[in-house]
Amino acid sequence: MGANRHFRVWRGDDTGGSLEDFQVEVNDGEVVLDIIHRLQATQAPDLAVRWNCKAGKCGSCSMEINGRPRLGCMTRMSTFEEAETVTVTPLRTFPVIRDLVTDVSFNYQKAREMPAFAPPVDTKPGEYRMQQVDVERSQEFRKCIECFLCQNTCHVVRDHEENKPAFSGPRFFIRAAELDMHPLDAKDDRKDFAVEQQGIGYCNITKCCTEVCPEHIKITDNAIIPMKERAVDNRYDPLVWLGRKIFRR
Ligand code: SF4
Ligand code: F3S
Ligand code: FES
Repeated sequence: MGANRHFRVWRGDDTGGSLEDFQVEVNDGEVVLDIIHRLQATQAPDLAVRWNCKAGKCGSCSMEINGRPRLGCMTRMSTFEEAETVTVTPLRTFPVIRDLVTDVSFNYQKAREMPAFAPPVDTKPGEYRMQQVDVERSQEFRKCIECFLCQNTCHVVRDHEENKPAFSGPRFFIRAAELDMHPLDAKDDRKDFAVEQQGIGYCNITKCCTEVCPEHIKITDNAIIPMKERAVDNRYDPLVWLGRKIFRR
C-alpha cells in the first residue's frame, strides 16, 4: 500500500474548466500516467486522457505536469518531493477537447503543407542507394515520436495564437532539415520553403523545444540553426541568386 499524495487535475472542456483536487495512492516506481489511471478507476471515471503505449514511444500522453510539458508515461513520481502537489493540465498551445485531451490537428495541418520526399524521377523503387554516413546524419530526426511537446512549448505559437498560420514549428523544421540532408531528395528548395512557407525566421533560438524533447533530439543546434545558416548562404551566394533569377522567370 503506497502513500496518499495530493494531485490537482484540470477538468473541463472548450467552454472552460478548473483544477480539481484529489488525494490518491502512489506506489514505488509509478509514473504520472499510472496515477491518472488510478483516478479513472477510483474517483473520476470520466476523466479524459489520451495515451496508448505507456512506453514513451507513441507520443500520445503529452500533458503539462507542474507547468512543464512532459510525457505522462515517462514522468516518474519519484521526480517530485513527497509533500509536493502534482498539478496536471492539458497542453496549453492547442484547443482543449476535454480534460487532458487537446486537439492537435494544427500539427497535422502543418505536416500536410510540407512537400513530401521527392526521389529522382528516373530512379525506380529498389534502385535507391545512399551512403551509410547519409543514413546516419539524419537518423536523429527520425526518432521523433510526434508527441508535439516541442510545438506546445515554443513561445512563437504558445504566446501568440496569431502566428499559427505562418509558423510550422520545431517538429517540422527537423523534418525539413532531414529532407534537406537526404541525398535522394530531388527538391532543392527545402531551405527556401523553411523561410518562406514554414516561418523559420520567427524562431529566435530560445531552445525551449530542445529542452522538452523526450527523444533528446537536438532540434535547435542540429536542425534549426544549420537550416537558418544554409538559407542565409543561399540568399547571399551570387551564383544561387543568379540561378534563382533565371529559373524562376
Ligand atoms: Fe516530440 Fe521531440 Fe518530435 Fe518534438 S521533435 S514532436 S518534442 S519527439
Ligand atoms: Fe521555438 Fe525552438 Fe526556436 S522553442 S523559438 S523553435 S529554438
Ligand atoms: Fe505512449 Fe506515453 S503512452 S508515449
